[in-house]
Amino acid sequence: MKVPPTSTPIPSIDEFKSLGTLLPYHTYLAYYDLLVALQSLNKDSTKERPVHLDLYCGTGMSSQVLADDYTRLGSSAIVVGVDRSFDRLSRGGMFKGSIKDPSDASIAANCNVRTISNNCIMVRADVPSLMSMYLNSRRPGLTPFPNVVKTTIFYPNPYPKSRSYNSRFYGEPWFLGYRLEAGGEVEVRSNWETLCMQALDVWKMGGMGVEGVEGVLRRVEEGGDGGVEGGGGVEVVEEGERRVSLFERKYFDVGERCFKVTLT
Ligand SMILES: C[S@@+](CC[C@H](N)C(=O)[O-])C[C@H]1O[C@@H](n2cnc3c(N)ncnc32)[C@H](O)[C@@H]1O
Repeated sequence: MKVPPTSTPIPSIDEFKSLGTLLPYHTYLAYYDLLVALQSLNKDSTKERPVHLDLYCGTGMSSQVLADDYTRLGSSAIVVGVDRSFDRLSRGGMFKGSIKDPSDASIAANCNVRTISNNCIMVRADVPSLMSMYLNSRRPGLTPFPNVVKTTIFYPNPYPKSRSYNSRFYGEPWFLGYRLEAGGEVEVRSNWETLCMQALDVWKMGGMGVEGVEGVLRRVEEGGDGGVEGGGGVEVVEEGERRVSLFERKYFDVGERCFKVTLT
């Protein structure tokens, strides 16, 4: 895997601002630190190790559960957990002793990415921004991101009010782009069935402007023709299944039903 050559150093914050990009600088740095961390885990492999992205991972419980699964299965995959909340990541013990305000450019470098084990990396970053960098990296001439074999999105913030359609992860532009560029399947879990149904609907219908997506989402919520009939593809997380994340455990503890959908 290639990382940016040393002859083209990562821009300083002033140079970065002059590019006029809307990306936060700390996420920009985190992206490159992540490439370096992945390269380091790859150093003894003859073949590039595949990546599993665990987005909105909170404390990172799910990332560790998934990484343990890969170890048990003898898979070389590396799990990359991403969350923007320093507090959540700290609660999972991931960012202990690191610097609290990574938006301060002078201390941003190297404090947003932690290699937890031989197959798990935690990243403190804004998911839409990081994923725009991922999508950009697919363009010729840019540093390519390693092969992603699976993406999980467990219990993302639901933004339940109708006017917040586009704040939900599937109303974000990155998700529409990801539909065409994702490697492998995307698994979504939520305690709100509509969230899974809408994610499936947007995935199926993709390629539309955000306004169009909003129309689709509204019809699903109103039970109209834009919806996935009978919630097709959306399954209930069974009582007997192990709890994959902290929120899943919390919902089960209070007797709430949880749903999952696999987008391919
Ligand atoms: C309801 S929690 C779920 C956490 C975890 N997946 C679980 O199941 O336990 C939602 C998480 O999304 C994170 N989040 C929300 N918006 C985000 C964003 N734009 N970028 C990165 N993380 C975000 C929050 O910090 C929070 O940890």
